[in-house]
Amino acid sequence: MSPFALTRTLPPDATAAALRADVAEGLTSSPKALPPKWFYDARGSELFDEITLLPEYYPTRAEREILLARADAIARATAARTLVELGSGSSDKTRHLIRALPHLHTYVPVDVSESALAGAAATLLDEHPELTVHALVADFQDGLVLPDTPGPRLLAFLGGTIGNLPPAERADFLAGLRERLAPGDALLLGTDLVKDERALVAAYDDARGVTAAFNKNVLLVVNRELGADFDPDDFGHVALWDPGQEWIEMRLRALRPVTVKVRALDLEVSFEKGEELRTEISAKFRREKVARELAAAGLELTHWWTDSASRFALSLSHPCPAGDWNGGWTRD
Ligand code: AVJ
Repeated sequence: MSPFALTRTLPPDATAAALRADVAEGLTSSPKALPPKWFYDARGSELFDEITLLPEYYPTRAEREILLARADAIARATAARTLVELGSGSSDKTRHLIRALPHLHTYVPVDVSESALAGAAATLLDEHPELTVHALVADFQDGLVLPDTPGPRLLAFLGGTIGNLPPAERADFLAGLRERLAPGDALLLGTDLVKDERALVAAYDDARGVTAAFNKNVLLVVNRELGADFDPDDFGHVALWDPGQEWIEMRLRALRPVTVKVRALDLEVSFEKGEELRTEISAKFRREKVARELAAAGLELTHWWTDSASRFALSLSHPCPAGDWNGGWTRD
């Protein structure tokens, strides 16, 4: 078999249809909201890469520190022959892991961006000519079908992206992952941790305004893809910490009364001055919460590693034997 294969499980028009549905729903509900996945067109992905280099944005550096320090421990604990990475993007941090897994046969990067997948695969195959790369163009949140590759499999979901899902969706998502794991497989999960409010808010409201530009980029995506006429200058960037939910919220606040036409949806929406559009939640975790949510999905947390400043965690979990799991129900 050729060392590179690419499978599209997303019909070419699925993304466009999903965007239309999300914008139609999100701009007509109250409060207004758009899902964070629409940040990441080419410009948005570039801006996110810039965010990861900001002094205020620690998660990427903290996670890389853990991956570098623990790659060998992860390799010993998993003996993985297949590495599946959800939301792989540029596969940048994954390099360390790939290098450390001595039995690795196949790498399966999963992303909605075909161009990101092709680029990452080319670089990796260059470094590891013996590796098989089977890229999947897929939305990891619905109906992920993994290729038939040798086990044990290690499923990696890094970066803290799980924090973008609200709790109920997170529970469904983790249960879906559990269903795809066989005995001996493992889940490697990156989660950002609860910490000092000032450090958290600064990470989402940097001095140079890169995060503000990233946040407003979603308006440009809607303009281009759906013929809307948002003026990003009509909105201010807001990042706030919700101590009850323990998540960061990003919003766009109308600086004056704004009316926007979305041509492709034949829709006109108004914002009052001060009205906010929620664009992202980014949940922060504690060890107990991660362990509890994994257990509810039928996964047992077996390893927990943090960076030296305890800002970010990588956890490794394994499927509980089917008989020990009752679908996450607890008796009260
Ligand atoms: C890529 C989802 C992990 O939530 O920290 C960065 C995205 N948003 N700055 C995060 C993001 C604002 C990031 N994730």
